[in-house]
Amino acid sequence: LINDLEFMKKLQKDSAVIEAAELLKKGEVVGLPTETVYGLAADAKNPAAVKKIFKAKGRPQDNPLIVHIAKKSQLKELISQDISDKAEKLMSQFWPGPLTIIFPKNSKVPTETSAGLDTIAVRMPAHPLMLAVIEKSKLALAAPSANTSGFPSPTRARHVYNDLKGKIPLILDGGFCHFGVESTVIDIREDKVKVLRPGGISREEIAQFLGEKVILAAELKDKKVLSPGMKYRHYAPQKKVFIFNFSDKLSVLNQALSKADSKKIAIITARESEFKVEDFSNKKIELLKVFSHKQPEELAKNLFDLLRKLDNDESIAEIYIEELDSAGIGEAVMNRIYKAATAENYSQPGGGNN
Ligand code: TXA
Ligand code: MG
Repeated sequence: LINDLEFMKKLQKDSAVIEAAELLKKGEVVGLPTETVYGLAADAKNPAAVKKIFKAKGRPQDNPLIVHIAKKSQLKELISQDISDKAEKLMSQFWPGPLTIIFPKNSKVPTETSAGLDTIAVRMPAHPLMLAVIEKSKLALAAPSANTSGFPSPTRARHVYNDLKGKIPLILDGGFCHFGVESTVIDIREDKVKVLRPGGISREEIAQFLGEKVILAAELKDKKVLSPGMKYRHYAPQKKVFIFNFSDKLSVLNQALSKADSKKIAIITARESEFKVEDFSNKKIELLKVFSHKQPEELAKNLFDLLRKLDNDESIAEIYIEELDSAGIGEAVMNRIYKAATAENYSQPGGGNN
């Protein structure tokens, strides 16, 4: 679909796309679908418009936004240096798609958008509706995820509505998001490629394509916060989220069940068939919700939707998520799960509770 230019042109004549573009040109914010999660968009070069994003989301001022473009020619209007060969290579391979690249920014990008940094994060999203709105408005669109700050990211238009109704004038419904986790944010300004935030494109994919090692910034000794957003608790439902290791499942879950009142605990596991309700039969509480996720892609796609559903389910007390292998997109999924679990209640991989 995203390579279908005729379809893109048709979409630009759609009345909803026209309305979205008009609002954006007037300095308003609009909820828009992308292939990762829904974004809350505004004209990246209009400081007053960008401020409305921060206000609607309740977002900390020091967390910079990603700017979304539909054509590579838009990039030159945002950055201050020539595009490196490595950036060119990565863009031609992964754009449009969930890869965000950090560039030195130019003075046309207001400090509101970059949150005071001298760099700007840019990506070309792979969603026909989003691309059509960018093309129609002829703007570069700053867009963080369209959730209330700290909540799970929105993967359905309904999630955006639930969080932001009354605060924004328009949401375009582009269906359930394909990836379900946000884009991978990378910094390639120095020799080594650093992943600031794992996301829809895995570290392995980038490393294999470039034929070099790709580092995870969080693993570096230097704990300088490279991506300001990574320091906040995030992606979190109101209910407590715990991470458990499959080998500890009985002790962890029995402990959980002994605390739980008459309510159920929800368990998200990749190994549904290995869970036996009988394991917990000496308890008065039944283990009722078990989800099957054979594929990390499937968990990535459904995670935020599940967290939101479980949060709204009155019969559920707490949420338990099995630790996944962090290969491929599993790295992004585990990153989101760690952030959703609070420091006081998540049991760290490898055992130790803290
Ligand atoms: O998939 C996505 O990236 C979605 C969709 C809507 O495109 N957007 C998104 O935006 O996830 P947001 O604001 O929720 O997350 C942006 C992340 C944050 O961790 C932020 O700190 C980091 O990117 N970031 C933005 N600009 C940066 C910069 N100049 N340097 C380092 N990190 C940056
Ligand atoms: Mg976000």
